[in-house]
Amino acid sequence: MSQTLVVVGSQWGDEGKGKITDYFARHADMVVRYQGGNNAGHSVAFDGKKYSLQSIPSGIFNPATVNVMGNGMVIDPLSVLRELKALEEKGIKDYQLFISTRAAMVMPWHPVLDGAYEGNRGEAKIGTTKKGIGPCYSDKYSRIGMRIGDLLEPDYFRERLEAALAVKNPELRMLGLPEFNADEVFDLYMEAAAKLRPMITDTSALVNRHLEGDNNILFEGAQGMMLCIDHGTYPYVTSSSPSAASAPVGAGIAPQWIKTVAGVLKAYCTRVGEGPFPTELHDEIGDGIRERGHEYGTVTGRPRRVGWLDAQVARYTARLSGITHWTVTLLDVLSGIDTLRICKGYELDGEIIENPPSTIAALQRVKPIFVELPGWKEDITGVTSYDQLPQNAKNYLAKIGELTGVPVGLVSVGPDRDQTFIVADELKKFIK
Ligand code: GDP
Ligand code: IMO
Ligand code: MG
Repeated sequence: MSQTLVVVGSQWGDEGKGKITDYFARHADMVVRYQGGNNAGHSVAFDGKKYSLQSIPSGIFNPATVNVMGNGMVIDPLSVLRELKALEEKGIKDYQLFISTRAAMVMPWHPVLDGAYEGNRGEAKIGTTKKGIGPCYSDKYSRIGMRIGDLLEPDYFRERLEAALAVKNPELRMLGLPEFNADEVFDLYMEAAAKLRPMITDTSALVNRHLEGDNNILFEGAQGMMLCIDHGTYPYVTSSSPSAASAPVGAGIAPQWIKTVAGVLKAYCTRVGEGPFPTELHDEIGDGIRERGHEYGTVTGRPRRVGWLDAQVARYTARLSGITHWTVTLLDVLSGIDTLRICKGYELDGEIIENPPSTIAALQRVKPIFVELPGWKEDITGVTSYDQLPQNAKNYLAKIGELTGVPVGLVSVGPDRDQTFIVADELKKFIK
């Protein structure tokens, strides 16, 4: 009987999903990305080398693992080829990768429009990655989008391309932007298709065949639940739902397969891009965390905003994603802080509230209520088991469990694969 593990971001992204997925991927038969695209930046480090992935699943480093880019993703074929080339230059040549015929395809006008919409928003900009994610998902839902499988049928691709350009070129013209030429786009995408063709397949059928066997299957989320199009800090969100609830739809499997959900929880919070952030720090403690944690975006290089851990957010996202275990990352970055704070709840207009409010106006009025805990001085980057952690670090983890009702299942004390240990027996079954 196959078993599944969903790795999902529980804050505003960049929690360490790449690292956690890679950790389990060495024991996984398959890794499936189910939403988002190359707006993600997932870092993986082992054997003294660091890799950055955008749309390719973090199981790519294990030659025995089948990697799948699922139908729920938005995929830029040219960007995939660039990523594969960058991996090849670092010696990663032996891999298995499949791309869904049904995945939405990023077209050259999507990043252009993403940038133009951001420019027009002025002060109210979202701070997107400008990879065309929003415009591509919009076209998917408007049913004028193109899909990866279209690449396999050139005549059909050409038809769809002309239909799309009949809508897009007038819009580009209106915005004062250069229009796209159907012949040029056709040639560019057919050239990419020639290279990607062997990887393009019905991945839902492929994943289901693996589920029918006796396999370990990982589902790798991108972004984080507070960036969810439905449940995040709308409109300061991405255009998909990173929830574990998206994994079945975005991979093309039945929901009954999802049982264990690892919520990746950074030991503090970060956010890149605009939008409300109740526990944000604007002081030297925040600056220290940013430097020690190298909190600069992997995709855009932007400095990440830093704040205290928010247990209100963690409770909310645990419920939405059915998180069964926390995988706590970057705990080492908190070493040396005298007094640590965790937000245990929110006060809004003089009242304690149970859930984050839906509007930005209300979120901006929210006052976090903090608990304080004594910190620890020790460098913990060499710690290899829970027992070796300083007592105050153990207390910090216990507080996370207490405030969220979800147990800590794994702890990460550095970027490297080896700087990881499992705490909950239930997660050990994913290690062969
Ligand atoms: P993702 O988008 O969720 O995969 O996260 P990113 O890769 O964008 O950001 C996480 C960053 O933290 C990367 O630079 C990782 O190499 C690094 N990282 C992951 N886990 C740890 C950890 O436990 N300690 C430290 N110091 N760095 C970590
Ligand atoms: P990973 O998978 C952090 C943010 C952007 C912006 C908003 C919308 O590495 O955790 P988009 O380009 O998606 O339309 O941008 O979402 N964002 C992320 N922030 N980590 C990510 O991915 C993100 N992907 C998008 O900064 O605020
Ligand atoms: Mg990232």
